[in-house]
Amino acid sequence: MRSELRRIKIHENGPEFSRVVWGSMRSEQQFASSDALAEHLRFLLDRGITTLDTAPPYGHPDPYTVEEFLGRAIAKVGRNKFEIVTKCGIQRLSPHRTENWIRHFDSTEKEILRSVDRSLQKLGVDAIDVLLVHRPDYLMDPDETAGALDKVVSEGKARYIGVSNFSPSRLNLLASRLKAPIVTNQVQFSPLHLEPISDGTFDLALQLGHVPMIWSPVAGGRLLTSDDEAIRGMRSVLSEIAKKYSLAGPAEAAIAFVARHPAGRLPVIGSANRERIDGAVKAAETQLDRQDWYSVITQVDSTLNL
Ligand SMILES: NC(=O)c1ccc[n+]([C@@H]2O[C@H](COP(=O)([O-])OP(=O)(O)OC[C@H]3O[C@@H](n4cnc5c(N)ncnc54)[C@H](OP(=O)(O)O)[C@@H]3O)[C@@H](O)[C@H]2O)c1
Repeated sequence: MRSELRRIKIHENGPEFSRVVWGSMRSEQQFASSDALAEHLRFLLDRGITTLDTAPPYGHPDPYTVEEFLGRAIAKVGRNKFEIVTKCGIQRLSPHRTENWIRHFDSTEKEILRSVDRSLQKLGVDAIDVLLVHRPDYLMDPDETAGALDKVVSEGKARYIGVSNFSPSRLNLLASRLKAPIVTNQVQFSPLHLEPISDGTFDLALQLGHVPMIWSPVAGGRLLTSDDEAIRGMRSVLSEIAKKYSLAGPAEAAIAFVARHPAGRLPVIGSANRERIDGAVKAAETQLDRQDWYSVITQVDSTLNL
């Protein structure tokens, strides 16, 4: 039987997302055409997944092409069926960004406004649902960045503002200058990347009342394919959990692990495989027992001193 996917309001003054989000970062490797991607989007809708994550620098073989690919597919299915999350700030080397001679981050007003206009055009939409600052720019002038983000909202180009990969101190700094609330922090979390549970990221999310978006919940596939001894050990712990909860395998147990944390309720999955997506939906709605959840933590550090 198929699981019903719930929806989550990600902030008191923010949007509602599907409890599993689909990420488009790998889409040009996964789908041969925008028609094939559109077919995939229809499948996601059928499963209750309405929230799509993307970013300007995603693209293969060259960065900066996925937004347009995704936009063409969205146009075939219907923009109003989705919540669209995109980002700004990462500068990569690409034939589409010849002005960049080194990788860097840019959260100046000029770059934020330029990036948003490009995203709207490439995605073919009037407004982005949530615009995230993709990575903290070490040179960020918080007043300038906050002013630009508020301007994007007041001009109706983005409905809500969030951040990604922000430490608690950086998030607090930007929030102190922004009029718009920060409705999410998109961060990495998986059995191979446990930092947010102990570095203050999740504590701050719970304190401020936003739901983080969790990227790479199966570590980009490394959890399933790596021959590294520690990862093989983790895989076998997750396989035991999968058996106990009738989940498909260690990938699904990892998603249930992530989703069990009070701040881990929004996994952003990257699989294009329909069975794996069905498995992820079931996993996100599976409530692991406390001791099963801790068996993942003790596999990393038996002293529980993370
Ligand atoms: N904010 C940021 O800085 C940031 C950074 C990275 C990613 N993201 C977002 O997060 C999204 C998800 O990231 P992700 O793709 O790394 O997530 P993920 O769900 O951890 O990894 C997906 C990858 O793992 C593979 N995989 C899944 N289950 C598997 C299994 N059982 N066996 C073998 N391989 C398996 C998938 O292959 P198949 O397609 O063959 O299933 C796919 O290549 C991205 O699309 C992007 O939107 C954000």
